[in-house]
Amino acid sequence: MKNMVYIQSGGPTSVINSSLYGAYKEAIRHPEEIGHIYGSINGIEGLIEDKLFDLNEENPHDIELLIQTPGAALGTTRRKLPKDINDPVYMQIVKNLQKHKIKYVFVNGGNDSMDTCNKISILCDELNLDVRVIGVPKTIDNDLACTDHTLGYASAAKAVINQIYAISKDALCYKQGKIHIVEVMGRNAGWLTAAADLVPDDGRPDLIYLPENPFNVDEFIQDIKEIHEKKGYGIVVISEGIKFERDMTNAQVDGFGHAQLAGACTELAHIVESRLGIKTRVVELSLLQRANPFLLSRNDRDEAIEVGQLAVTSALAGETGKMIVMKRVSNEPYVARFELVSLSEVANAEQKVPEYMMQDKHRMSDKFREYLRPLIQGNIHLIWKDGIVELTNFKKKIVK
Ligand code: F6P
Repeated sequence: MKNMVYIQSGGPTSVINSSLYGAYKEAIRHPEEIGHIYGSINGIEGLIEDKLFDLNEENPHDIELLIQTPGAALGTTRRKLPKDINDPVYMQIVKNLQKHKIKYVFVNGGNDSMDTCNKISILCDELNLDVRVIGVPKTIDNDLACTDHTLGYASAAKAVINQIYAISKDALCYKQGKIHIVEVMGRNAGWLTAAADLVPDDGRPDLIYLPENPFNVDEFIQDIKEIHEKKGYGIVVISEGIKFERDMTNAQVDGFGHAQLAGACTELAHIVESRLGIKTRVVELSLLQRANPFLLSRNDRDEAIEVGQLAVTSALAGETGKMIVMKRVSNEPYVARFELVSLSEVANAEQKVPEYMMQDKHRMSDKFREYLRPLIQGNIHLIWKDGIVELTNFKKKIVK
């Protein structure tokens, strides 16, 4: 009897645990092929350090709650595996795969995590191990190559749109208000920032700044001045990844080598206040974008579950070294089909917002709206207890 291990990696999303749920539910349907279903604690670190736990030992209610629980329920990491395949870390991985009789490995992550997934797959191939490795795509940044979109993006986009819309009702109710600078995650890709363009007209941001376009502070100040003169207030949305001269000397760098970007809105607000004397308010949406069960897209969640299931059926069918991707068939009705691509095609690659999806440097085109609208459809009925949403809390008893 062989076992499986599920690894969550990189930044969480609101539906990363839904893919785990899908994979778990599929795996228990094949007891003759899959024995134990292990979760690796803190991503690949669990497999290196022999910190695995058995999902069947967890409370079944906690398993059911996975589909409304944000964050990575298994624990995650941004640890990058070394280039050198002879590094002792790989021997640790092999030792633990063999110790726990693991035949199926699933890595749920973004482009850096697909590098981890690819390296494990190459390792198993080179050593001729009977192990199948499949990638499950996720990231709110939506920047993975070869796929129409990534799991988690749509729910984060829905959170951005709805929170900005709600905020706008507060922000725009004074005659002489402030300039609100809203900062959205997404690193070098502006997909999530672009979502702000779908806010209805009565709350729609005045200006949107994507990292794909050059950012000039003087032009930004001029844009703000014009908005303020015309309306007396305004909402501008910036991506955390816009590049301007700022002091990054104290910025933290994560294990994948990325600088922590948050905080651009605060710096820009200082510049606006000092140069124009205009009152500003900063709104850093931060984790409420990717840890928000209240604004889940049903479409995103359902796809996340389905892709988790498909990862297991693909591995059982003999596939390995591949990641599942979504290919869009039509917008109305929304139809996407699932395919497999080689991990080497997606590892470390980055997909930016294409020009045809931008109307100009502050607005998105109809093509973008047609692309995003179907993805954010459908709401979720959540399970609550005493006025508080119920969320998974695994005990994680480490297996010997
Ligand atoms: O995983 C992607 C992401 O959510 C980016 O949008 C953001 O820049 C980054 O993660 C933040 O990562 P962390 O929470 O590890 O600081």
